[in-house]
Amino acid sequence: MINHNTGEITIIVALDENNGIGRDGDLLCHLPNDMKHFKQITTGHTVIMGRRTYESLPKGALPNRTNVVITSDAAENYPGCIVVRSVEEALSRCSNQEKIFVIGGGRLYRATIGLADRLSLTRIHHSFSDADTFFPEINFDEWTLTKKEAHAADNKHRYPYTFLTYSKK
Ligand SMILES: NC(=O)c1ccc[n+]([C@@H]2O[C@H](COP(=O)([O-])OP(=O)(O)OC[C@H]3O[C@@H](n4cnc5c(N)ncnc54)[C@H](OP(=O)(O)O)[C@@H]3O)[C@@H](O)[C@H]2O)c1
Repeated sequence: MINHNTGEITIIVALDENNGIGRDGDLLCHLPNDMKHFKQITTGHTVIMGRRTYESLPKGALPNRTNVVITSDAAENYPGCIVVRSVEEALSRCSNQEKIFVIGGGRLYRATIGLADRLSLTRIHHSFSDADTFFPEINFDEWTLTKKEAHAADNKHRYPYTFLTYSKK
């Protein structure tokens, strides 16, 4: 059990119908509206990520956010980031007012789903047979759906997707 004294912790993730989230160190597909949604929700706040997710960011640390990377690697390899060794250390570095977003990947989601107050899911309505990284199983009995917004596929979005927000019961 990890004790923390931070503000609300939200897990944000885009996942397919099988909870697939990644392949070969990258995302399963590119959905520009999901990127916009992610930016809109997380800007101005703290984002916590695992080392492999940091490595997947095309331009390194995300602008206008406090970036926290969890790794056993040397801090100088993560410019613009607060580098910590564990989830406990990440949370201990955040103030009690701070709104925190856990932005992946699979290993970090598994370590934090029990701590989260909110889930911000983008459900991609497709099954990617080659996914190699997964979000943990969600027990929906523990969560209340507070927002749902469905989007059809279009010329910029190959698959339909739904934004879903849940609060912990
Ligand atoms: N669909 C989405 O929304 C989404 C979001 C983010 C990422 N992804 C995808 O997910 C994949 C990466 O996920 P992943 O599971 O392979 O890696 P990850 O969780 O991003 O990073 C794993 C590494 O981070 C450190 N780490 C993570 N959790 C830790 C913990 N609880 N305690 C200590 N260290 C911890 C370790 O670093 P060291 O080995 O350096 O010690 C570990 O090897 C990529 O394909 C990425 O594109 C998808």
